[in-house]
Amino acid sequence: PDGRRFFVGGNWKCNLNKSAIADLVAAFNEAPPLDRDGVDVVVAPPSIYVDSTRQILRNDFAVSAQNSWISKGGAFTGELDATMIKDVGAEWVILGHSERRHIPQLKETDETVAKKAKYALENADLSVIFCIGELLEEREAGQTIAVCERQLNALKQAISDWTRVVIAYEPVWAIGTGKVATPEQAEDVHRSLRLWLKQNVSESVSDQTRILYGGSVSPANCVELAKQDNIDGFLVGGASMKPTFMEIVDSYK
Ligand code: G3P
Repeated sequence: PDGRRFFVGGNWKCNLNKSAIADLVAAFNEAPPLDRDGVDVVVAPPSIYVDSTRQILRNDFAVSAQNSWISKGGAFTGELDATMIKDVGAEWVILGHSERRHIPQLKETDETVAKKAKYALENADLSVIFCIGELLEEREAGQTIAVCERQLNALKQAISDWTRVVIAYEPVWAIGTGKVATPEQAEDVHRSLRLWLKQNVSESVSDQTRILYGGSVSPANCVELAKQDNIDGFLVGGASMKPTFMEIVDSYK
């Protein structure tokens, strides 16, 4: 809405394998061409499949990684320098996903996530899907906006150019639970985040930055969510690994 091109991301998380990806990509490749002025579509395979997915997927879909390292490569066993993602033709990276922030063995901090975003944007020329969102207990304690603003503030401290940043608001209680936020609940948060951007970054960043909703988005609930003024698209998990993901892609129409 308001001139912001709709955006639909599919986050495959730690799922699928080579042959399942081949089947899914074949289904996506058969869909009618995207209206490039109307929607951006990005899929994020597990990192080991980013390169091969890029090679078999049609070119009007972009490819994303799900994480990248905070800096230039070197002696960081198991990590990916963001420039390597770019090197295989992917254009995006998801950073700060709630699973990386909250899974006890991972526990990425606001600062770590913001550093990763800075490196990916400034050194690798990637675009960033920056995820934020509150836990159930934080929502129940009335801290939803404060938590999201704290997470965004870390990003604000780290970067100055927001033109290649997309924000994904994913309430943790709605992720993978089938408990989607109501259009009103999501719109309330999105509206507050846009105001925060206006007051803390700039009016143009507030007007132009796309704010996606994520958490149990499906073909059944996407149309109502997409109608909200401040919902500019989706980051989809489970429902992005089925051919009917294309119904979610079309929900802006
Ligand atoms: O990043 C997308 C995500 O966390 C939402 O997952 O399965 O609830 O759509 P899902």
